[in-house]
Amino acid sequence: MDLLQAIYERHSVRVFNDKPLDDVLASALERLITTYNAESGLHMQLIQNERKAFSGLKARYGKFKGVKNYIALIGRKGADLEEMCGYFGEMLVLEAQALGLKTCWVGGTYRKVPKSMTIEKGEKLVAVIAVGYSDEDGVQHKSKEFNEVSKTIGAMPEWYTKGVEAALLAPTAINQQKFVFELISDEKVRVTAGFGPFSKVDLGIVKCHFEIASGKDETIWTV
Ligand SMILES: Cc1cc2nc3c(=O)[nH]c(=O)nc-3n(C[C@H](O)[C@H](O)[C@H](O)COP(=O)(O)O)c2cc1C
Repeated sequence: MDLLQAIYERHSVRVFNDKPLDDVLASALERLITTYNAESGLHMQLIQNERKAFSGLKARYGKFKGVKNYIALIGRKGADLEEMCGYFGEMLVLEAQALGLKTCWVGGTYRKVPKSMTIEKGEKLVAVIAVGYSDEDGVQHKSKEFNEVSKTIGAMPEWYTKGVEAALLAPTAINQQKFVFELISDEKVRVTAGFGPFSKVDLGIVKCHFEIASGKDETIWTV
């Protein structure tokens, strides 16, 4: 499965099987995390066999069951930390999906277990991503319409429509989809985050989907 297919097949899953992560898959995830950390300067970590984060009231409220592996999205505090966690965290979500694993982004309904991870001075834990095996595939979220998240009027290149359509399939906190795309010129796109919890993380996530589906890289973005 390639990452574009993963965009179409991924849905959040909150009930996981007890099976521990296969060594080959865990190493594959570790390698990807190392690569993305080197590229981004983030300090993301795979936490395995740790049940406390998803054992309290918050996790039950969030309807989580059987979570014992998660990716902790950690990085140096700064203006772009949330967006970077969104972008590189979603790359890991899609790679995990392509490896046959299921995931759920979690910003609120978990308990921070600082002992299970390394948070250096000046760093912050932004969110986690539950990851593991599940018999469930999840369901397609209710989505806004194309024109609610794209301000572009008139003819649009196919790569742009493909990118926005893939952004509409992206996970966002409380499914808020508070982002707006606009084609500025032949080769420049602006995307802005609205107000809402984790909306800057969402922004990084939708940029990740847009780049994969449009075939463009980060040079497509303008402010
Ligand atoms: C930044 C972020 C934070 C999230 N936090 C939570 C959370 O605390 N609890 C939860 O159950 N789901 C959480 N979610 C999952 C969203 O509810 C889910 O992605 C959204 O409803 C869309 O559904 P889908 O992922 O199946 O497409 C979060 C998603 C994102 C992107």
